[in-house]
Formats: sequence, C-alpha cells, structure tokens
Amino acid sequence: MTGAGSLVDSHGRILRDLRVSLTDRCNFRCLYCLPETEAAQNFYRGHWAHLPNPTPIVQQWVPRGNLLSFEEVERVVRLAVSLGLEKIRLTGGEPLLRHDVEQLVARIAQTPGLADLAMTTNGFLFPSKARSLREAGLRRVSFSLDSLDRDNFRKITGRDGLAEVLQSIRLAQELGFHPVKVNAVIIREINDHEIESLAEFARTHDLSLRFIEFMPLDSARAWQKEMVVSGTEVLARLQARFALHPVAPDNPSATAKRWRLPDGRGEIGIIAPVSEPFCGHCNRIRLTADGKIRTCLFSVTEHDLRPHLRGGASDEAITEWLRAVVWQKEARHHIGEPDFVSPPRSMSCIGG
Ligand code: 5AD
Ligand code: SF4
Repeated sequence: MTGAGSLVDSHGRILRDLRVSLTDRCNFRCLYCLPETEAAQNFYRGHWAHLPNPTPIVQQWVPRGNLLSFEEVERVVRLAVSLGLEKIRLTGGEPLLRHDVEQLVARIAQTPGLADLAMTTNGFLFPSKARSLREAGLRRVSFSLDSLDRDNFRKITGRDGLAEVLQSIRLAQELGFHPVKVNAVIIREINDHEIESLAEFARTHDLSLRFIEFMPLDSARAWQKEMVVSGTEVLARLQARFALHPVAPDNPSATAKRWRLPDGRGEIGIIAPVSEPFCGHCNRIRLTADGKIRTCLFSVTEHDLRPHLRGGASDEAITEWLRAVVWQKEARHHIGEPDFVSPPRSMSCIGG
C-alpha cells in the first residue's frame, strides 16, 4: 500500500469498487443506451410520442489518441488498489472491441491486493476470446441479455446476436467463470412480457440474472419514468410464478436485492436505482475510456486524469489527486426530481 488509509468521500463512504471503461464504442445499439436504430426510434416515437422529448446527446466518439493506453489503465488500477479499491470491473462501450484486451486483463489480474476482477460485455465477441480471457485471469463475467426472442433481441440491441450471446453464456459456464451473471434492462412495452421467461431461463441454466430498472442514460434522452418497470413490479410478477427465497446480502454496498429460485438453481437480483436508490451505500467510482474520473453515474462534472498521467505526475501526486476528487463524490442522484439534469454522455461513454 502506498497511500495511507482508504479512499473516502465527504459523506463517510469508503470506496471499494472501480469500473474501468476500455472504449466508448460498441458493436450494439441498445435502445436504452445508443438508440440510433430505426427500431429504437419507432419504439420511442410510436409508443411514447405523447411524452415530451428533450434534446438528444450528439454522440461524439472519443478520438483514438485520447483513449488511455493499457499502461495508463494498469497504472490507475495499481494506484487505486493501493488506496483500498479492491474490485475492478472492465466495461465499455463494449470492452472486447479493444484489441488484445486479454493482455490488459493479464496485467491487471497480477495487481497485488486486487480481490476481484470482472468484466461486463454484450457477449457478441466473447466466444473467440473466452479461453484467452480465462487464462489471463478473468474470473467473473456479466452479459447483457434483455430478450430470449430473436426478433425482440434484434429490436432492443440493433443486432441479430441472440445466438452468439447464448453461446457465450454456455461457454462461460463451461470454462468455469463464476458466477456468470446476466443483465436484463426491463422497459415497459418492449420486454416486460419476458420477465418470467428470463427468470425461467436463469433457473434452467443456473444463472445469476439481474433485472435492472431503466435509467436516464440513453443518448437520445428518450427516457421517461413511464417506461420504467419498477423492481417492485418485477418482483411481484416473479413471486406470482416462483417460490422465491431471499438471499442475505454479502455486503452493505450490494446494489441487487437477491432471491434464490426454486430448487436452488439460479438466482434473481433486482437492481432498482430509480425507484429505490442505494446511493447512501454507493462505494463505486468510474474511469472513462478517455481518462476521466466520474464519482457518480449521474455526475454532470468529470475529473480529467489524463493530463496528469501524460504530464509526468508522480504516483504520489496522482494518489493525492484521486483523494481530492473522491472526497467530492455526490451524495445521491436526483432522478425523477424537478432539478434532475441528465449527464452529458450516454452509458456507452460512462461505462456500465
Ligand atoms: N439503464 C439501465 N441499465 C443500463 N445499462 C446500459 N444502459 C442502461 C440504462 N439506460 C446496463 C446494461 C448493460 C450494462 C453495461 O449497463 O444492462 O448490461
Ligand atoms: Fe453497447 Fe452495452 Fe450500450 Fe448495449 S448497453 S449499446 S451493449 S454499450
């Protein structure tokens, strides 16, 4: 440990979890993230045309030279771990679009003091990289799977990729990734009719399935609270179908309320950041692909680490900078309140 003590914010929260986005680009166009397809636009215009729509974000991709190099990412991870962050999750955009990502995984996996290394991916490119990622030291992986119906999957993600994602899930299990998690963002009128079948899928395949409330992080700013299917509603639907047994949280900062499915096969998690915010226990910060620290998913200001990394700052100077930035972490988000301002970047840029 180089830094004395942990990273804490002014609200007394100790930071443990760093999400690292490796690229803002993506080979999918999910309608809750990058709703650029005709199907996404038809969905929002068709069902929800009566609702007001604010100005969309003009998606500006990060120029390649501004992406942090693997050396830079590795250095930030090493310093963060020395300050007590113990969980690292690699995300995007789509992290598997970064060339030779397994080399970065191998380097990060060696970080002394790192307890947990995971990745969130849409799964499309996973089959060709799964073995090398596993050998590089990746232990945990989360896939996005919002539909089990080929046409609906294509409508939601903009890509005819259901077969590839299902193959990825199988392969991850075969290769011993554990747990294999699956994220489903539920949106009213698009996939809310699939809640039960997704849970049944988790049970059949002994998966850890997370139902996530739709958050206002899409680039079209098309989110409206009417589209959110609350965690409570998802739970009621599942309880009508399955005998669910609560699972005790393994740490107070866990975002998901967890339930075991009957016969002990598979698990459900409900993540309800909109209807039941868990900000009071949030122990996460994010590093964007272009080297900005975000202290909240909904931050409207970012803290630019790249000039320090590229300007010859010492480890000590960066450590002190990180402490000062983290101190300013927001108390909570303001979704649904009159003063809510959407962040200026979509989820693909922020890192899920
Ligand atoms: N609301 C909720 N979850 C989202 N994700 C992406 N965009 C949103 C959003 N607007 C989640 C997806 C994906 C992960 C990276 O982030 O579940 O798996
Ligand atoms: Fe890509 Fe993930 Fe955004 Fe979907 S949610 S468009 S997979 S970054």
